[in-house]
This record gives sequence, structure tokens and C-alpha cells, in this order.
Amino acid sequence: MTQAETFKKLEKMLTGIIPDIEIKYKAELAWEIEQLKREKNAVILGHNYMEPALFHSIPDYAGDSLELSRKAAQTGKDIIVFCGVRFMAETAKILSPEKTVLLPAKEGGCSLAASITAEDVRALKAKFPGVPVVTYINTYADVKAECDLCCTSGNAAAVVESLGGDTVIFLPDEYLASNVARETGKHIIFPSISNGNDSTAIDYQMIGWRGRCEVHEKYSVADIKNVRAQYPDVVVLAHPECSPEVTQAADFAGSTSAMIKYVEDTEAPRYLLLTECSMADNIAAANPEKEMVRMCSVRCPHMNEITLEDTRDALQLMQYEITVPEDIQLRAARSVEKMLAIG
Ligand code: 13P
Ligand code: SF4
Repeated sequence: MTQAETFKKLEKMLTGIIPDIEIKYKAELAWEIEQLKREKNAVILGHNYMEPALFHSIPDYAGDSLELSRKAAQTGKDIIVFCGVRFMAETAKILSPEKTVLLPAKEGGCSLAASITAEDVRALKAKFPGVPVVTYINTYADVKAECDLCCTSGNAAAVVESLGGDTVIFLPDEYLASNVARETGKHIIFPSISNGNDSTAIDYQMIGWRGRCEVHEKYSVADIKNVRAQYPDVVVLAHPECSPEVTQAADFAGSTSAMIKYVEDTEAPRYLLLTECSMADNIAAANPEKEMVRMCSVRCPHMNEITLEDTRDALQLMQYEITVPEDIQLRAARSVEKMLAIG
């Protein structure tokens, strides 16, 4: 695609979504990145939360955590540039240790990944010996290495059900765990690791942890009621990192890609997305006939660190390279690969 064609494509999609002056500037950056990508034999993976100009220009593949993990495992390119947060880039490195994986942001954190350490997992395993441990993909490599199996928001219930057994430790998202417990009919507890002997308490089948996504925990049932009062025909979609009260009050709950697909497959004129707000812009750009009701104060500060400028710099300066110690990489790969095998 030429520079002029890149501009035309972005102009067509993003007029009315971002200011015109920004479209021109960002189209130039996107074109520059395309040249670098070819020169360096790199692939760009972009999470659904990337801002609209980035999302609709440079990624070779865009998607949710599960889809991007699959792509990271399959790519034949030398370099993977991950436009997402650190735990996602780490997952790419775990699956493709021979590739160079670059994260365009220095930090790229996540409140869920920061909520639990490998030591916490070891303490839980000591308290509940023999109980299988499932960890959400939103964790760092050393935590994944302590677990039996990973999951994403797109397959969490299927992963838990694949274990067949009765009891499972599910970490670290309190709300995702509670949503999965409801879906699979399990009783969940949130024990403390420091005291008590709740391992002998009776009828639980899921053991959770009180980590939360700092974005999704902000949504409430009152938000849904307010928007429904204003727009009675609105279709409400929530990410399963929202509280169980919120997911139950929504019309649909699913991963970021499942939400995108739901909007594409539904005839309704108006949608409320209870998730990071860039995604509503991205969907609005691709589906101009559908209205996204925005509650745009809710942004992920970590996902927002990734810009087109930083992505260009990442390729030019080969920064910031993700490394994972080999022993951790090997053990973490087992958990992620088992998940990918479940489908
Ligand atoms: P998905 O796997 O649904 O894309 O979610 C990732 C995430 O970080 C949501 O906050
Ligand atoms: Fe983490 Fe929440 Fe941001 Fe996703 S939206 S990266 S879960 S803080």
C-alpha cells in the first residue's frame, strides 16, 4: 500500500472518530512503520484495545488474548512487535522463545498481573495440595510457570470444565472467577493464605484470588440502568472481568473479540460496551451504521501507553525487548500450550 492509499484508507474509516489532522499525521506514521516492518521481517500483533488509528492500520493480526497467543505461536517472522501490554508480549515470548519480541512501551503493566506473585501461588498450592491451578493469561511468566493450565476470557469456563475434577484454584481475577463459577455451577471461596484452615471447609469447588481489573471494576449495574432508561433499545455487552452483577445485567458477556463479533452479528442500532473505550471507537469505525454509546472516561492507562510513535521507535531502536528466563519459559509454555490444545 502506498502512503496515499494508507491515508485514504484511514480517512474513510476514521473521519468523525478522530480529528482530521490526526488522521493525516497518523497515516504518515503508519506508512513509516509498514516500511520498517518489511525491512526487519517483523510481524505486528495488535490487541483490540489499541487506539483506532493504530488498530486500523499497522497490525498484521488484531484480536483478543487467545487469538493473539495463537498467532504468536504460528508466526514465521523473526521479530514480533506486540501492541498490547507486557503479559501479552511475555506470552508471545513463552510460545516463540527463538524470536525477538518487542513491547513498544517500557512498562505496559496490568492491575490483574500485578495482583499476584509466584510466591503467592506456591503458598496456595501448599495450602490446597493436589488441587489443579488455572491462571488467567493476564499474569506474568513466573506465575504461569507455577500453574497447571492457562485460560483467557474467551475459554475460561471450557478450561475449568476440561479438568473434569471437582475443585480448582482459579487465579487471579476475582470477578472472572466468580463469573466462571456461576457459569459452571461451582461454589467459590476466596481464602487468605496467611491464616485459618479453610482448606477443610466443606462444599467449595473453586478457590479464587482477589485481583481485579482496574478498568472493568469501575462499571456498575447503575450504569446499565441509566443507559437503558435513556435508550430502551440499547444492547449491553460486558467483559467477564466486570462483576457478576454487571455481567448478569448485561445482554451478553464475552472476550473482546466475542463482543466485536456479537455487535457485527446483531441487527440492533445501538450498543453499550462495558470495557476499555477504544474498542467502542474501533467497532464504530468498522460499523458506521451502528451507534456505540460511549462511557469514555474508562480507559486502560497501560494499553494507552502504546502509540504509533512508540511502535515506530520499537522497530527502529529494537526496544523494549522481552526476555523470560529459560526455566520459567519452559514451565510457563506447558501451561499456555495445554490451553491452546483445548481450543
Ligand atoms: P481479552 O482476552 O478478552 O481480549 O481481554 C484482555 C484484557 O486485558 C481485558 O481487559
Ligand atoms: Fe489489565 Fe484491565 Fe488493562 Fe486489561 S484492561 S490490561 S485487565 S488493567
